[in-house]
Amino acid sequence: MNLSIQLAPKHRQGLLLANPVMTASGTFGYGTEYDHVFDIQRLGAIVCKGTTLEPRDGNPQPRLAETSCGLLNSIGLQNIGVKALIKEKAPLWASWQVPVIVNIAGETIDDYAQLARELDRVAGISGIEVNISCPNIKAGCVEFGANPESAGRVTAAVKNATSLPVWVKLTPNTADIVEIAVAVAEAGADAISLINTLKGMAIDITARQPLLGNVTGGLSGPAIKPVALHMVYEVAGAVDVPVIGCGGITAASDAIEFIMAGASAVQVGTANLINPRAPLDILEGIEQFMEKEGIEDIADLIGTARR
Ligand code: SIN
Repeated sequence: MNLSIQLAPKHRQGLLLANPVMTASGTFGYGTEYDHVFDIQRLGAIVCKGTTLEPRDGNPQPRLAETSCGLLNSIGLQNIGVKALIKEKAPLWASWQVPVIVNIAGETIDDYAQLARELDRVAGISGIEVNISCPNIKAGCVEFGANPESAGRVTAAVKNATSLPVWVKLTPNTADIVEIAVAVAEAGADAISLINTLKGMAIDITARQPLLGNVTGGLSGPAIKPVALHMVYEVAGAVDVPVIGCGGITAASDAIEFIMAGASAVQVGTANLINPRAPLDILEGIEQFMEKEGIEDIADLIGTARR
């Protein structure tokens, strides 16, 4: 069976993944944390925690709240900063078979361009995921992602600053995600990932206070899967670059739904917090499905449920 997938067909070198299952940013650390849990080299790719120019401590606690079939987070992009990432993490990744993609976030367009420049040609880094969709920080990031014009400008700035393949992660917290997707594709994105979390909140009724220290957070997990699936379906019909589906994928059948909706690859996120082996279980489930259905190439599944 062939599960390999080309995620940057318009890019000079391309970005060929051995299979379509990757981890979602922020749910799998830097990959190293899971190395002893299962053979992470079997994954299609690992997307690391959102990375900023300077290290960040993140938002005040509490930063996580469980909901019915979901999880609210308000982490606030806690991360070690790009310099430490290049010094401490990339050398390890360089010896890995699985490609690592660095998720980047900034407060200004220049931040994004500088991050892309710093990551360019660093051994161990195979691509960039541009995060214009984190709902948990005060400046930048999702501000760019909620508007087609600014989303396109960030994308073009990153593309100009790096020779790496670039994909852009979109927010569902916008009136029309399709117009944002079209704008980033026109600005040169090699692929598009969606969706990031839906903005939400929870209240501690005894304390009569918002439960999260940041008041609001981003909702992920199975609760958002139908929304994410529909958005992937819409975006896949509107752009000519690969789409990476994300949002509530916890089982192989979820991943297959996204692929049938038009996604070329999938990201597993919140499921990792329940079952750290989830991405591998999902990959094996896709393989079993293909075997049972007599499908020899994953490409033959992509978009098969589209009308
Ligand atoms: C966070 O760190 O607050 C979540 C990251 C994201 O939503 O992109």
